[in-house]
Amino acid sequence: MSNWTKACDTDDIDEEDLIRFDQGDRTFAVYRSPSDEYFCTDGYCTHEEIHLADGLVMDYTIECPGHNGQFDYRTGEPTRSPVCVALRTYPVKVENGEVFIDIGDGA
Ligand code: FES
Repeated sequence: MSNWTKACDTDDIDEEDLIRFDQGDRTFAVYRSPSDEYFCTDGYCTHEEIHLADGLVMDYTIECPGHNGQFDYRTGEPTRSPVCVALRTYPVKVENGEVFIDIGDGA
């Protein structure tokens, strides 16, 4: 079931960067690509419970601040060890300068 939730304004994220977004007891990472597209994944790395918001965005890659594992934040796929489990990703839409993510039903 769709559950579109406003995460931020488009200007809240610099190009090739990300921010943390918390909703209830859930936490997400919202990305702005070098091409001005927006993406969303779970906030915590799948390796350990370290938030990706302190990580580094390079092109379409997020590098975890924990142990420098990397993911493609468009798909959540791991691209550099030690991470081997994909991040969950969420649909994103932009309307009138606002970024919405479909966080579903929390399941
Ligand atoms: S916690 Fe992310 S790579 Fe270890």
